Amino acid sequence: MCNNCNLNIDAERTDEFGQKLLQIVNHSGLSFMISIGHRARLFDIMSEMEHATSGEIAAQAGLNERYVREWLGAMVTGGIVEYDPVLKTYFLPAEHAALLTRAAGSNNFATTMQWFSVLGTVEDKILDCFREGGGVPYSEFARFHEVMAEESYSSVVCGLFEHILPLVPGLEAKLKAGIDVLDIGCGSGLALIALAAAYPESRFTGYDISEESIGRAQQSASERGVSNVTFQVQDVSQMNAVSEFDLVTAFDVIHDQANPAQVLSEVNAALRPGGTFLMQDIAASSHVEKNITNPLGPMFYTISTMHCMTVSLAQGGAGLGTCWGRELACEMLEEAGFNNIDVQELPHDIMNYFYVMSKM
Ligand SMILES: C[S@@+](CC[C@H](N)C(=O)[O-])C[C@H]1O[C@@H](n2cnc3c(N)ncnc32)[C@H](O)[C@@H]1O
Repeated sequence: MCNNCNLNIDAERTDEFGQKLLQIVNHSGLSFMISIGHRARLFDIMSEMEHATSGEIAAQAGLNERYVREWLGAMVTGGIVEYDPVLKTYFLPAEHAALLTRAAGSNNFATTMQWFSVLGTVEDKILDCFREGGGVPYSEFARFHEVMAEESYSSVVCGLFEHILPLVPGLEAKLKAGIDVLDIGCGSGLALIALAAAYPESRFTGYDISEESIGRAQQSASERGVSNVTFQVQDVSQMNAVSEFDLVTAFDVIHDQANPAQVLSEVNAALRPGGTFLMQDIAASSHVEKNITNPLGPMFYTISTMHCMTVSLAQGGAGLGTCWGRELACEMLEEAGFNNIDVQELPHDIMNYFYVMSKM
């Protein structure tokens, strides 16, 4: 039977799929509203309020009541905020605040919701790429480095000392004693600044190709008064560093690269013998069928199509995409000269694998 012919359609199956699409429509709307709630600090403010009217919430947030009330309508019908129709008051339950406020740290889902509006800024250009190939460069994305810094704070900085560093045996002692550390594609530098502040005997270098993010990193370092960290605009596929570092880190960087194979061999060359490469990258398989049960599968492929893959293709690059996956990652790491790769996962982090390897 042809796909367009109605005769053999299973009505129940169509109905079920319709329900799924209905949910997608509503949830997509909510993702924008949650992003706005985060940016307007409404969740943070409501988490500290008892039941309150839209006027009281708007006044506390310094926002326009009419807009706040409409936003609350989405929050109430979306099951995020509770509503008392008699008193006309709204309430954010503590259990929801625990996943939506800045105080929630790495558990704050609202940070991630911002990506949909960031990606929306390039939808027309991505559609052009579907027709003509090529890619959309970093410079076209509104607020990319700002949102990335927030995401990085949640996903890297919040767990850095308690969870991520202990993945490398003996690393903390080495950092305390004093080593040379390089973070490639350091973005706004939050992870490196946190490390530099914690380990004054070590020396930290951050490279990123983006002038905007290096500017942000330098400003944050000087605001925090951290002097053992240097940030530099540098294409990490052209580092030409030989045996200069004891630890190289790459947080969510390699799959975006125009020339990832070149970057991995540059990292190998930059490490001293016995040095460690710690690579955080997306927890996915290289095979789409193995990602069907991944709780973030659709999100990964969406962000890939509209950011990670396209920024690489925009430079005539490999376009690995977000789901280059563990199998291909291990293959490429081996080709770059790493042959003792330990792939680890953190129980609270469903988004990332941590590849730990040392240079022989
Ligand atoms: C997904 S972001 C991750 C940023 C940062 N590691 C973090 O966790 O916030 C990828 C970063 O890699 C940088 N980047 C991409 N290609 C690069 C290259 N060839 N050399 C240096 N940096 C690069 C981008 O500018 C961007 O800041």
